[in-house]
Amino acid sequence: MGLVLGIESSCDETAAALVTTDRRIVAQRIASQEAEHAPYGGVVPEIAARAHAERLAPMIDAVLSESGVELRDLDAIAATAGPGLIGGVMVGLVTGKALAMASDVPLLAINHLEGHALSPRLADPDLAFPYILLLVSGGHCQILRVEGVGRYRRHATTIDDALGEAFDKTAKILGLGYPGGPAVERLAREGDSTAVPLPRPLKGSAEPHFSFAGLKSAVLRAHESGRYSAADIAASFQQAAIDCVLDRLTRALDTLEQAPALVVAGGVAANQAMRGALETLAVDREMRFVAPPLALCTDNAAMIAWAGCERLPLHAGDPLDFRARPRWPLDPEAQPVRGAGVKA
Ligand code: KG4
Ligand code: ZN
Repeated sequence: MGLVLGIESSCDETAAALVTTDRRIVAQRIASQEAEHAPYGGVVPEIAARAHAERLAPMIDAVLSESGVELRDLDAIAATAGPGLIGGVMVGLVTGKALAMASDVPLLAINHLEGHALSPRLADPDLAFPYILLLVSGGHCQILRVEGVGRYRRHATTIDDALGEAFDKTAKILGLGYPGGPAVERLAREGDSTAVPLPRPLKGSAEPHFSFAGLKSAVLRAHESGRYSAADIAASFQQAAIDCVLDRLTRALDTLEQAPALVVAGGVAANQAMRGALETLAVDREMRFVAPPLALCTDNAAMIAWAGCERLPLHAGDPLDFRARPRWPLDPEAQPVRGAGVKA
């Protein structure tokens, strides 16, 4: 059995975790920077990097000491090496490199998106490759066919905003603060999802991709019209977003080579309404539906440690001069799509 330390610092969560190759989360800590970024309505990269730099080393120390683990007991140190905010990524990666060098333990430079993509397998030992993955986070919105560790075929991505970004912008428009996704979901429960006519961008389109910029603009117009309550706008927005996702996924399932399971991962996978809609789609398609527990959906270090566990048998480790990558697509062969806001 292997034991891997995971380090995550690519956005606004500082996190460290110890995970075994037989899927046990031995210890984990996570510190959110919500309070630091809330006054700005979004993540400020410089503030994020400083906060990671202050918190990470004591956090790793705590995770190791509370589980009675020494650095030399580790089989690998897995650190997020991108994509993400470069300052934060460098803090985590450099920390991982220094610990790896000092203890002579292999470094595994992990793609944060691979952490999300494999996280459902940490919680569910029965989830085998291949699976169809909807990866929906603050920076990404993709449909992938996950064929194995390191083998990801991207079918669709967003041509403008990511889905989590659309939730965050809607929250900002409605004055719900940051981070927006959970706040929009909460308010949506009190609203009427049919009250506000909102567009479903690219619904029925022959191309596979997502678009959410038009939906966000329509939310802004609805809010400025003064005709609708914030709860009705939140509920109608969430329903429009779900309709878009269902339409694009249905298209993907019609097109892609079949797989037994439909899987959702990333921060927006924490949304209960979204999970319910995806489960119904999976049942319709006679597919298994797999969604990780909520704490594994949003950014965390257990998923990074787990990606390290998955990689452990495959290679000896990454070089200590591995470069942090602000952009790092999961599928290097995927064609770039038109649109300005695509993150990777
Ligand atoms: O995966 P994640 O923690 O960070 C990234 O890698 O981006 O995702 C964060 C995103 C944010 O945009 C947040 O608003 C969204 O996930 N999110 C949600 C919910 N919880 C988090 N969106 C909708 N409903 C939620 N319950
Ligand atoms: Zn993430």
